[in-house]
Amino acid sequence: MVITMRKAVLAYSGGLDTSVCIPLLREKYACEEVITVTVDVGQPASDLRKAELRAAKLSDKHRTIDAKEEFVEKYLFPLIKANGNYEGYTLGHAIARPLIARKVVEAAHQERASAVAHGCTGKGNDQLRFEAVFRASKFSIHAPMRELNMTRSEEIEYAIERGIDVPITFDKPYSIDENVWSRSIEGGRLEDLTCIPPADIYKWTTDPSKANGDELITLEFKGGVPVGLNERTFGGLELIQKLNDLGGKHGIGRTDMIEDRVLGLKAREIYEHPAATIIMTAHQDLEALVLTQKERKVKALIDSTWAELAYEGLLDEPLMLALDAFIDKTQERVTGTVTMRLYKGTATVVARSAPQALYSEELVSFNDKSLDQRDAEGFSKYHGFQSRMYNRFVRE
Ligand code: ARG
Repeated sequence: MVITMRKAVLAYSGGLDTSVCIPLLREKYACEEVITVTVDVGQPASDLRKAELRAAKLSDKHRTIDAKEEFVEKYLFPLIKANGNYEGYTLGHAIARPLIARKVVEAAHQERASAVAHGCTGKGNDQLRFEAVFRASKFSIHAPMRELNMTRSEEIEYAIERGIDVPITFDKPYSIDENVWSRSIEGGRLEDLTCIPPADIYKWTTDPSKANGDELITLEFKGGVPVGLNERTFGGLELIQKLNDLGGKHGIGRTDMIEDRVLGLKAREIYEHPAATIIMTAHQDLEALVLTQKERKVKALIDSTWAELAYEGLLDEPLMLALDAFIDKTQERVTGTVTMRLYKGTATVVARSAPQALYSEELVSFNDKSLDQRDAEGFSKYHGFQSRMYNRFVRE
């Protein structure tokens, strides 16, 4: 008789939810072995260290997987090309979820586990994003937080009973998620929509009104992605980190918004994303210069569908491949330099150039005769023709 151990690989952040999941997987799911996996997508080193220390006490085995470069090149670069924007903010948290889930499934194969698990609740989006990946695997799926329907206070009590030293206390239970691209804060006092966020929830950005200085930077793009800053070449990860520091100092990239979750719940979310704001603003400006008006019109629709799928965690949807193919085709020409002014919370484009710009200073200039203005006269006779026809009937 083959006895298979009930072995689960848990996506582990080291926070309250996932820490509570470890004893729950043993007690309620009869798991004999719980392996924790933390995927490093750029959370603070201290968080990774804390997760490791906590895992050492709670789980049977722990792995930290450095996926930062992969996150930037395979997930954030496509997002930049697609101007990945969901309801007005640059996506960040959502796009990391499929990567984390894929790494957990990989680990489950290597560990010959029988199940994969996550600590998402039944109220958010992450359960859907994780499971969109998990359900394509052969592993059973455990979602203790959702399945046991625990409230946050019950979790905290359970954690205290089990002697888990949790990072969250009753008086300030914000939920914070951080990766290389974006930091998000939700829950706690912020659930009261009339609550003005206390200054100390922000970590990456200076209060814009207190930001000092006025700085010009140049960003270099190649094929739709940023490759250089102030005439120096950087890899994506390093460039994003530098722009987060620089933009953060100028108070750039704060968002406080009402967001529609996939399940329909509206939620208040606060984000910090300095590098993302700078890069996306510059990228869109460069697109305006090199893409035709018709390309831009269609791309705006493609981009918004792309962002919706990314928000829902549906990166394996075949439509996504088709959208990426369109986007990649347009990005071949998105190469050039954008100069930006960083000042008190704003990142404004002040100059740009591109080898394949669809712009001619000569043709647009009022001082040039190479386009004969008289040629436009015939065109203008037809312009608005249908409106004139319509108005004639209305008047009659
Ligand atoms: N509402 C965002 C999303 O679903 C972020 C959720 C996670 N944020 C957090 N601080 N736990 O993409």
